[in-house]
Amino acid sequence: MRSAAAYAAPALPAVIVVGFFVWFANWIPQTRWQPPQKLAITEAMTPAELAALGATLVRQRGCMTCHTLEPGAGVKGGGRGPNLADVATRRARGAAGGPGGLVEYLVQALYEPGAYVVEGYTNIMPRSTGVPAKLSYEEIVAVVNYLQSLGGKPSAKIGELPRPAGAAAAPAPAAAATLDAKALLGTLGCLGCHSLEAGKKVLGPSLEAGGLRQVAAGRKMSLEAFLVEAIVDPKAYEAKEFPAGMMPQEYGSMLTAAQLKSLIEYLAGSKP
Ligand code: HEC
Ligand code: HEC
Repeated sequence: MRSAAAYAAPALPAVIVVGFFVWFANWIPQTRWQPPQKLAITEAMTPAELAALGATLVRQRGCMTCHTLEPGAGVKGGGRGPNLADVATRRARGAAGGPGGLVEYLVQALYEPGAYVVEGYTNIMPRSTGVPAKLSYEEIVAVVNYLQSLGGKPSAKIGELPRPAGAAAAPAPAAAATLDAKALLGTLGCLGCHSLEAGKKVLGPSLEAGGLRQVAAGRKMSLEAFLVEAIVDPKAYEAKEFPAGMMPQEYGSMLTAAQLKSLIEYLAGSKP
């Protein structure tokens, strides 16, 4: 008697191809990529307890892809953003030309990073309430306490810190649900790190279709499959000349299948 495998083998390539499209079409990201666990933050927590949670958040939500903690190194560490060691000492009185106190300074740095840009840096930091960090109000308070603890004493309480302005707090539902690829590239922060011009590097490689096609061919993948992987699971392949771990890992849990499809069609150049 022939084994079941012998019958199944010839059909395998077709099953894989069909399987890919079924997965693609019905893909409900949340079932594969669990969103990061919400930390339980209560108003009863002391600033020290909040600071401990803040330390975890800063590592989990991508802050350290740009920032470093290098005691004694001054503002300019080895990262793309300022060295956060001793930030509380350095900013005890805020910044000339920016908010005048430590807490006010930190709150603005998180809500509106572009409102005051640290000398020697450019305005690349995304709002902490938006993609990729997506900090809630309570999480912002925890992170502020953590930053205060870097060279000072945490003191911020939930309820005392200003809440984010409505617009900055959450993207309008219409924008979040859009299928317009150009709008998505903007609201998801892609264009902060990527250009669409051939050969033009920003923080990451250019997303011009011709260049992407070459990288995909080098990996023996179709352009579309490579794009799915690059967006949903950036760790699977990291372009050598760029820093590893910089591209946010969470897009897989944020995008709907339809949004992902729209982005891929746009980047692959098959849809204007
Ligand atoms: C894409 C890179 C990037 C990411 C991600 C990022 N930052 Fe920044 N951050 C910067 C840059 C660049 C600056 C300096 C320019 C400016 O002031 O906007 C900065 C400035 C700051 C400052 C002011 C530092 C000082 O010395 O005055 C703080 C505080 C800060 N970031 C905290 C955070 C936190 C907390 C997160 C995560 C929720 C985060 N950043 C995520 C790049 C980044
Ligand atoms: C904070 C910066 C940052 C953001 C935001 C970002 N990327 Fe990236 N991306 C990178 C870096 C750095 C690389 C190269 C390292 C790697 O392959 O992971 C990369 C790689 C890629 C690649 C593979 C390209 C190649 O030639 O290897 C694609 C495709 C891509 N990103 C698409 C996107 C899209 C689409 C978005 C928005 C949904 C996005 N990226 C958001 C930094 C970013």
